[in-house]
Amino acid sequence: ARKDAVDQILSEFLLTKEELKDVMRRMQREMDRGLRLETHDEASVKMLPTYVRSTPEGSEVGDFLALDLGGTNFRVMLVKVGEDEERGWKVETKHHMYSIPEDAMTGTAEMLFDYIAECISDFLDKHHIKHKKLPLGFTFSFPVRHEDLDKGILLNWTKGFKASGAEGNNVVGLLRDAIKRRGDFEMDVVAMVNDTVATMISCYYEDRSCEVGMIVGTGCNACYMEEMHTVELVEGDEGRMCVNTEWGAFGENGELEDFRLEYDRVVDESSLNPGHQGPVSSIFNPSLCFSCVPSYEKLIGGKYMGELVRLVLMKLVNEGLLFNGEASDMLRTRGSFETRFVSQIESDTGDRKQIYNILSSLGVLPSELDCDIVHLACESVSTRAAHMCAAGLAGVINLMRERRYQDELKITVGVDGSVYKLHPRFKERFHKVVRELTPYCEISFIQSEEGSGRGAALISAVACKKAACLI
Ligand code: BG6
Ligand code: GLC
Repeated sequence: ARKDAVDQILSEFLLTKEELKDVMRRMQREMDRGLRLETHDEASVKMLPTYVRSTPEGSEVGDFLALDLGGTNFRVMLVKVGEDEERGWKVETKHHMYSIPEDAMTGTAEMLFDYIAECISDFLDKHHIKHKKLPLGFTFSFPVRHEDLDKGILLNWTKGFKASGAEGNNVVGLLRDAIKRRGDFEMDVVAMVNDTVATMISCYYEDRSCEVGMIVGTGCNACYMEEMHTVELVEGDEGRMCVNTEWGAFGENGELEDFRLEYDRVVDESSLNPGHQGPVSSIFNPSLCFSCVPSYEKLIGGKYMGELVRLVLMKLVNEGLLFNGEASDMLRTRGSFETRFVSQIESDTGDRKQIYNILSSLGVLPSELDCDIVHLACESVSTRAAHMCAAGLAGVINLMRERRYQDELKITVGVDGSVYKLHPRFKERFHKVVRELTPYCEISFIQSEEGSGRGAALISAVACKKAACLI
């Protein structure tokens, strides 16, 4: 009976194929609205042009510096782009990881970018290359409205960043200013890209069918190559341009209302940015109300997954279905259940050892049945995330097939992010549903390694060729 009551509660997380199709169609509608000039401003899915085009004019070879800000870690990389007889391109990297202190993330933009410049300076010292003025590619994983490849304003922060004075400003300008303020090295910032874009490009050099990039990590987002004539925000009709969908904000206009559960509302209300994927302070939408409409990213992203599970566990405790109806102080504390626990618990091989250890570290002493119930709760939350995410990607791919008037679309998706890579079952559940929702498409998935650094460097190399910059 206890198990039945638990199943009843967890069944809310199940989505039928019809519901997933519905999510997919709603996503497509919002994508379409985002692309059109007329409706762009009110669309929740912003469909931001990236100025990365389909017709690269060859690229330079040489050393590039790449920065990667917006995932779990901040990274500085030295990337050597060279020609390779067999594969066309050869890219080698050296990298160093830096953690961003809390006060740099939530202080002022100047503090954040000064810290970034300090990390670059440290990296250049380590590799004895401070004297070189290298071209730099910046992977900046937030919504940016580009005016060109190396110019774009931050629309709003997402994923817990909130440094003040950055929203509404040219991000490349903020970086250049910080480098100038330091004054101990010089850099030539040639390109800024989203992490989805860098991921797509890095995989493109291995597989020319890679025209979609996706991240399922702290946040969740995708980009793809769209026909120029439908990208109304940019002049010109020829060829294709990569569009950063910023689909994480899908749902902000209430499109996911029918799928929202009580846990989603609590996660949303207690996040930095209730009602939005980004902080409400966004100067671009001062009139946005505080009604709590969870965005797509909050149903999927690693920033929220652990907390969702914790809330489900608390519900089960409160119903007397788990831990004899008693939670520990720790389990009652927001954020105590980390997303990596979800992966670890679902990796359990049947002896419940991992589960037991994790739960004891949270101050509860679980029975065997408690362990099984916690496992089920994790599975429910992460499976819904995988299926929701699959509906979005299927929306993108079906749209591409329609645009290209192809009977069958053969496409490769480059993917990165901790949830996708580290969760033991996410991929398989996700791939299955994507394929179910995309008849007439043959989809391959490639996991990108060091994608952001390599991708940013490769785009910079193309940009350098065009600008004929000296390296
Ligand atoms: C990394 C990429 O591997 O994955 C980053 O280099 C990206 O650019 C990140 O932002 C996303 O995953 P997570 O889990 O670190 O947010
Ligand atoms: C958030 C950001 C987006 C990024 C994604 C994955 O959704 O807004 O730009 O691509 O996280 O890191």
